[in-house]
Amino acid sequence: MPMEETKKIKLSPRLTACAEYVPQGSTLVDVGTDHAYLPVWLIQNGRVKTPVIAGDINRGPLERARKSAAEYGVENEVVFMLNNGLAGTKDDLAETVVIAGMGGETIMDIINASGWNWEGHTLILQPMSKIYELCSGLYENGLHIEKERLVRDASEIYRVLLVKPGEQEIPGDMELYAGNSDREDPLYKEYVSGLIKKFSRMEKGMAASDKADSEALEEARRLHNAALELGKELGL
Ligand SMILES: C[S@@+](CC[C@H](N)C(=O)[O-])C[C@H]1O[C@@H](n2cnc3c(N)ncnc32)[C@H](O)[C@@H]1O
Repeated sequence: MPMEETKKIKLSPRLTACAEYVPQGSTLVDVGTDHAYLPVWLIQNGRVKTPVIAGDINRGPLERARKSAAEYGVENEVVFMLNNGLAGTKDDLAETVVIAGMGGETIMDIINASGWNWEGHTLILQPMSKIYELCSGLYENGLHIEKERLVRDASEIYRVLLVKPGEQEIPGDMELYAGNSDREDPLYKEYVSGLIKKFSRMEKGMAASDKADSEALEEARRLHNAALELGKELGL
């Protein structure tokens, strides 16, 4: 009887962008792994040292992770961890930490609550919301964004950050909001366009509301103008 071929996993563009930032041959923990697609792909493509740790705070997602690992024939190369972030672990758990598909504030909480010394580590972060809060929090906590890229997945544009330890001067507001990816990348222009619209809506909403305080309105106006300025530089 012919041997059954191992199924090969395909990643979404968003998770592919995360995978591409993983240093070749590193040990890795995927926090909030859910279906464990990322660890499965990394193992199948020989990108990481095994076992890979796939962690999740919820039993259901961790069960999905076990199923994927079995389906793709890598169940013996994954250690499953039912855990809130990195709680109770030490920084010798893995060299690379991926936290993808969560809100920026949750990601920052996980990093801060870990108590890890980040020296020698790589963090790959892919926030779904509160990106400004995450980016500023990283700089306030002795980390910095070494590089980042934008990726389109379905109708959304996501930021994927490669974060390293080391104090660096905190970038200006607009760099925190818009990121620092390649300015020639058409996605960057589209992302900045989206920010201009967002800040414009925010300013108009506040101006029209009799409840908004003048400081908040001033801040919305400042951000709108700063985004317009960046848009001008990009020829928008
Ligand atoms: C939307 S899924 C993202 C899955 C995968 N990382 C991705 O990017 O496709 C978010 C997962 O994070 C898990 N999660 C949320 N908060 C967490 C925490 N504090 N610690 C560990 N896992 C968490 C959820 O249970 C869920 O499975």
